[in-house]
Amino acid sequence: SKKIVLTEDPSLPQPVKAKIVKLESLRGQRVRVSGWVHRRRDQQEIMFIVLRDGTGYLQAVLTGNTTKTYDAVTLQLEASVELTGTLKAVPEGQRAPGGHELVVDYWRVLGPAPGAEEAFTNRLNEQSDPSILADLRHLVLRGETASSVLRLRAALLSAFRASYAEHDFLEVTTPCLVQTQVEGGATLFKLDYYGQPAFLTQSSQLYLETCLPSLGDVFCVQESFRAENSHTRRHLSEYTHLEAELAFITFDDLMSHIEAIARLFIICETVDKLLANPVTAALIKTLNPNFTPPSRPFMRMSYGSAIAWLNEHKIQRPAEDTDGNVITKKDEVTGKDEPVMVDHEVGDDIAEAAERQMTDIIGTPIFLYGFPAELKAFYMQKMPRKEGEQGPICTESCDLLMPGVGEIVGGSMRIADMEELLAAYKREGIDSAPYYWFTDQRKYGTCQHGGYGLGVERFLAWLANRYTVRECSLYPRWPGRATP
Ligand code: 4AD
Repeated sequence: SKKIVLTEDPSLPQPVKAKIVKLESLRGQRVRVSGWVHRRRDQQEIMFIVLRDGTGYLQAVLTGNTTKTYDAVTLQLEASVELTGTLKAVPEGQRAPGGHELVVDYWRVLGPAPGAEEAFTNRLNEQSDPSILADLRHLVLRGETASSVLRLRAALLSAFRASYAEHDFLEVTTPCLVQTQVEGGATLFKLDYYGQPAFLTQSSQLYLETCLPSLGDVFCVQESFRAENSHTRRHLSEYTHLEAELAFITFDDLMSHIEAIARLFIICETVDKLLANPVTAALIKTLNPNFTPPSRPFMRMSYGSAIAWLNEHKIQRPAEDTDGNVITKKDEVTGKDEPVMVDHEVGDDIAEAAERQMTDIIGTPIFLYGFPAELKAFYMQKMPRKEGEQGPICTESCDLLMPGVGEIVGGSMRIADMEELLAAYKREGIDSAPYYWFTDQRKYGTCQHGGYGLGVERFLAWLANRYTVRECSLYPRWPGRATP
């Protein structure tokens, strides 16, 4: 019975083809917009479509014959369509994205989408099991929240780059295929490289260090890979690592740089930039309505004080035997094996759970610094010791902790002295041969230098108030997951 076939009226003005984001200046004109059917609502004879083209959302109104075609009757969400009509400002008191709507006079379906069982909303509903949602990440991305997070991510990366450019840092692109480790053998992905062993990079730090004498202060935005079997909400097997390296600085300069109170203001400036831009400010407002930029300076806390703080606040850690296995005991009430909890001691690693409790109680960004050398990577500069000082040898290292996420930045000063570096390889059981290029930095005009790495997904999780870093990556990878 639905035999109406639409044709475009040749007497109408030739339409201007445009993306949704560019429509404002075209009000009053006839325009042609292509996109996906994001929402559809029928009100008696009128059909409302919210069209999505990746640059924004547009409300379209269809009436008369345009609603009576076979395509109109069978139209499903997520079909791709081309809509042509006159763009009109919405009347006072009415709301529509962009403040205008498209009054359609001609339209066609470009790619239909199935209905019934295969309908988009059937495959994807909010209640879906997390592993199903992970399998359907490609469809989840079409949603408003997921796409807003990715949009904010893009703005964040641009803002970072702009801040670095202003401060004369040069961007370099470092390799992902490497033959040296940075952060310990336990988290290396190993692969066969034309018959030789190679790894996926854990950090670009060593390469950035080699750039200082030729390019000055440098930064990179590169994927890092960690093979740790962590299923926590802040671990990914592949993550975007923003790293920077600075020459001729002190440990204090480095911390000031990261926390944005002295020489450079990367993190806070970046957030200010995002808030100054109405589009990104709106994204932050929708995703994280209670967001307030951190006040500066950030709190600084030494590793030793942190251990004392944890004990004062009765935050314990699971006891381990000499092989590092967690010691458990049967709980008298539940009958389940529960870890035996003990106080923290100087020399202990501050595990994720304790760190999170601490940041959540304190509620502001914290700079933890001066970790024992034994807990940290081979390349870290030791802290000068005062006469008669006891306790473990500490390093000029610092972690920036944010409420809700925990560690988002890890940085340190690097060993500048060649002999000391050679001794450090030895102590860690690392063969120095593959590191000859890194060692050479100390041979030809060494300098005091340091840098840091920021986990982009963790930073974004903090900024956009996301429960897990998995929401902050386009296609997140975690143990067992490399699809889609
Ligand atoms: O503390 P990390 O391991 O430090 C380094 O790799 C240094 N070489 C960086 C440098 O000085 N250039 O990692 C730095 C940051 C962490 O603070 C965290 O934000 C992020 O990288 N990160 C991860 N993010 C997601 N998933 C993981 N598995 C991560 N591991 C580290």
